[in-house]
Amino acid sequence: MTVLKNTPQRYGTVAIALHWLMAVLLIGLVVLGLYMSGLPDVGFDKRKIGLVLLHKEYGMVALGLAAVRLAWRLGNVLPALATQFPDWQKVAARFVHLCFYSLMFALPVTGWLMSSAAAIPVYAFGVRLPDLIAQNEYRFQVLIEVHKWLGYALIGFIVIHAGAALRHHFLSRDNTLKKMLPGAGNQA
Ligand code: HEM
Ligand code: HEM
Repeated sequence: MTVLKNTPQRYGTVAIALHWLMAVLLIGLVVLGLYMSGLPDVGFDKRKIGLVLLHKEYGMVALGLAAVRLAWRLGNVLPALATQFPDWQKVAARFVHLCFYSLMFALPVTGWLMSSAAAIPVYAFGVRLPDLIAQNEYRFQVLIEVHKWLGYALIGFIVIHAGAALRHHFLSRDNTLKKMLPGAGNQA
């Protein structure tokens, strides 16, 4: 049975739900971002505009969820990592988690800054959010690049992180993946 809060051995229901919901959301945003930015700009056609608006709305949802997740993470114990591995692997795992938290904030914030620099409003649940900076074409171009490279970094970390989780599960056959899954395999 899974409990709401984390224990020293396993993640609780809330952390598990946030982890998988955000995994799907972030991977979806990366795929959508890469797809829409590859579409031709000619006349900035309606389909592209629609996809960019969708990307921005869901990107702001990701920012809200990241804040909830960080608060939950700070108010919970952190389950221990599998013990039978060298210290450098544990440091690497925690470092990747830290980078994920940074990216969960940096990506939406650079997206928001970018939109402000282009003087295009940002909405969340139909509410218009304030502009973070004044219109500036140079800053807009820089922020597009920053947002893009943060997106590429996220892809790299996901590959490493998911690869490590699957390696633990199928090769080392330890509890790493099970403690992030709901259900019986998640017992302490
Ligand atoms: C975690 C949330 C987000 C992720 C993972 C993400 C990821 C990406 C990626 C991978 C791209 C493609 C970059 C390229 O190849 O040029 C992109 C483009 C873009 N993103 Fe995001 N994004 C997020 C949030 C946001 C937010 C909140 C906004 C605005 C409020 C935003 C605005 C944009 C725009 C306008 C583009 C297109 C830039 C262009 O014209 O090339 N993004 N995003
Ligand atoms: C898509 C495949 C993914 C798999 C198979 C996976 C698997 C896992 C597993 C097994 C853990 C527990 C590690 C441990 O404590 O020993 C974990 C933790 C974590 N994962 Fe993932 N994950 C995936 C995607 C993602 C994505 C896209 C993110 C981006 C935000 C992410 C962020 C995290 C973070 C920050 C933790 C640390 C626990 C926390 O603070 O929530 N994961 N993941």
